[in-house]
Amino acid sequence: MLTGRTPQQSGGSNHQNYLFHLDNLTVEYGSIRALKSVQLTIYPGEILFLTGPSGAGKTSLLNVLGGHLAPTSGKAILPHERSSKHFVSSVFQDLRLMQKKSCEDNMWMAYDSSLYDSKNDFFREMEDLSRLLGVYDHLNQKIEDCNGGLKQKVAMIRALLSKPTALLADEPTSSLDKESSYRLFEVLNHFNHKKGLTLIWATHNKELIKQFPGKIAHLDQGRLVYSGHACFI
Ligand SMILES: Nc1ncnc2c1ncn2[C@@H]1O[C@H](COP(=O)(O)OP(=O)(O)OP(=O)(O)O)[C@@H](O)[C@H]1O
Ligand SMILES: [Mg+2]
Repeated sequence: MLTGRTPQQSGGSNHQNYLFHLDNLTVEYGSIRALKSVQLTIYPGEILFLTGPSGAGKTSLLNVLGGHLAPTSGKAILPHERSSKHFVSSVFQDLRLMQKKSCEDNMWMAYDSSLYDSKNDFFREMEDLSRLLGVYDHLNQKIEDCNGGLKQKVAMIRALLSKPTALLADEPTSSLDKESSYRLFEVLNHFNHKKGLTLIWATHNKELIKQFPGKIAHLDQGRLVYSGHACFI
């Protein structure tokens, strides 16, 4: 459920179980107010599309949710503050991949021995995801030699391999064609269904939003002007 009310005010039995809660959140860069009094609660297992025109504040909001940007005023309660078992993984617009390293080496960055029984398990998961998303034949290719779409897929796979509670992605399909975008989203949808992955996805891609179940939070000039079911876009 996504609500403009505080968890204390909202009804229902699960109101304490939210993952993220933003209360009267404002973010300023000097004199620019990027986010204005945003009120937002996100629950485990939700798929939320962040929409809005360029400059509306989508990236700023994702950065707050990912713990990379502190509010100027108001409150941001993030998953790791609620429980140490939560982990939030971000796929930034610039992807933050190591250009001189191969696709596979970049994915190994996500390896954590506390998350996998063995390196073999990790490798198997990496192989499966790479096959599903068409990266398998490029595992040895250096990132600097990959096209934009391939880089986006590598960044998404790396994020999934870190087994996050919530995945935040900033325009992750901007370099992907329609088919690849849908395939990627099908994989994420599967993680959402099977593993309860919470997905927060900034996008301009209305076609994609219409194809998949989820909610939207629409920003306009820093204000959250709509939050609710995506069927109304
Ligand atoms: N580091 C920064 N320093 C100064 N102003 C910034 C900074 N980052 C963002 N802004 C400004 O804050 C506002 C919100 O920007 P933000 O990048 O969050 O929007 P966005 O919705 O992600 O836009 P886009 O769709 O173009 O990615 C814009 O006016 C932008 O120019
Ligand atoms: Mg942005």
